[in-house]
Amino acid sequence: MNNNIIVGISGASGMVYAISLIEALSLLPGEIHLIISEVALKVFKHEQSREFDEIISSIIKTGKARIIIHDNNDLFASVASGSFNVGGMVIIPCSMKSLSAVANGYTENLIERAADVTLKEKRPLILLTRETPLSLIHLNNMVKAVQAGAIIMPASPGFYHHPEKIEDIVNFMTSRVLDHLKIDYQFAVRWRGKK
Ligand SMILES: Cc1cc2nc3c(=O)[nH]c(=O)nc-3n(C[C@H](O)[C@H](O)[C@H](O)COP(=O)(O)O)c2cc1C
Repeated sequence: MNNNIIVGISGASGMVYAISLIEALSLLPGEIHLIISEVALKVFKHEQSREFDEIISSIIKTGKARIIIHDNNDLFASVASGSFNVGGMVIIPCSMKSLSAVANGYTENLIERAADVTLKEKRPLILLTRETPLSLIHLNNMVKAVQAGAIIMPASPGFYHHPEKIEDIVNFMTSRVLDHLKIDYQFAVRWRGKK
């Protein structure tokens, strides 16, 4: 198990999912390579009413992981190369624009380049997509991305675990993402059958 994970944050709604995943990964020794797009920074501030750096600083203080923040324009960053060894990558939330870049191999920024590299290195690439409804273009891009090896995980939490708080709903998705990265999670949400 390689706990070194790239987390790309694109400008879709659902920054709470990114925070939850970063918090969960930060509990483990390893490296979190964070990349946030320009639009995502603005959506983050809008949804969270707090700056991205402020929230990440508080996670760094309490977690075990080393968090490295990369500039999305820095195509010279370590994670731009397949020779840099990581366990996988998650784009969370993943906009339809970033999905399109992944599906079509169009790598203009570091999130897109790192995702492209993750696919070519056959490492897990999870796209936590957020848009509704989906156009045929979105759906075709999802098919292309899956055919190239990506895992599409729409931000569509279940409700069979009887969530009481937003945190419970978000944690459902965090749990599923970590399962696909093969990372054990102490707060995993699991269906154990009904008697
Ligand atoms: C407040 C806000 C919410 C948005 N939500 C979504 C969304 O849920 N899904 C999506 O695909 N795009 C959404 N967008 C549009 C993307 O931010 C836009 O397509 C942008 O170009 C994505 O760029 P990026 O993927 O490089 O971050 C939203 C934009 C704003 C301002």
